[in-house]
Amino acid sequence: MVATPAVDAASAVEGAWGSGIIPAMGVLRFDNVSKQYPGGHAALSDVSFAIDAGEMVFITGHSGAGKSTLLRLVHLSERPSRGAVLFAERNLLKVRGRRVALHRREVGVVFQDHRLLSDRSVAENVALPLILRGVRRGEIAKRVRAVLERLSLGDRERALPGQLSAGEQQRVGIARALVGEPSLLVADEPTGNLDPTLSSEIMALFAALPERGTSVLVASHDLALVKRMRKRVLVLDQGRLADDIRPEDLADG
Ligand SMILES: Nc1ncnc2c1ncn2[C@@H]1O[C@H](COP(=O)(O)OP(=O)(O)OP(=O)(O)O)[C@@H](O)[C@H]1O
Ligand SMILES: [Mg+2]
Repeated sequence: MVATPAVDAASAVEGAWGSGIIPAMGVLRFDNVSKQYPGGHAALSDVSFAIDAGEMVFITGHSGAGKSTLLRLVHLSERPSRGAVLFAERNLLKVRGRRVALHRREVGVVFQDHRLLSDRSVAENVALPLILRGVRRGEIAKRVRAVLERLSLGDRERALPGQLSAGEQQRVGIARALVGEPSLLVADEPTGNLDPTLSSEIMALFAALPERGTSVLVASHDLALVKRMRKRVLVLDQGRLADDIRPEDLADG
């Protein structure tokens, strides 16, 4: 009823205009994406979904379901065999060469094993993405301090990763992913090595990101934890998107 000639194809696909609701800006969209590794079977089959700005979404599913593969397609360490991955409505197929590094500025990545440099201090580890992109030293120091304070690591900036607890190490990994102020944070089993209390802390941290402008996509097989968070859940089963559960439809318990 509010259709105007200015409606672009992407908005029309979202289908929200007919309801009079202005569609939220799409951060990430998978259109019929399949991925086959060389010599392997289908790791992802015909997967389609969209994530809006400000959403926090979990991906869950059995081991080998394709969770890590899906995240790799987002930060361009793998490419789809078929279909399209769109980031901020831009087809990642066209993002090649030097533009891959530019894309990765927009996507913060957190790994299960955090991959910190053991001979560099906390502050140096967190500064790394900014050093690589040539940010001024004064600006780096300011931003590193701010993100470390935010993650309650302000008093640990000179420590080496080996001198930190597992939860602190993971928070440093998250600080490094956030220091560049990405529009999307992807995390692959970020609490895989942490006890339940620390896992909940890390998840609460992620849940606070959307209101600061960072959408969040987390792969986790910890169903109890995922349920407690009451966020949208994408369920993968043998590479297929088996379910897309909205928070309001998550059963209690
Ligand atoms: N580099 C690779 N080369 C070949 N096959 C791969 C590669 N990476 C993953 N696969 C296969 O693709 C499928 C999906 O793997 P993926 O790592 O995405 O699953 P996952 O859901 O993350 O599992 P887990 O919970 O164990 O981490 C599996 O069958 C796996 O063996
Ligand atoms: Mg995995």
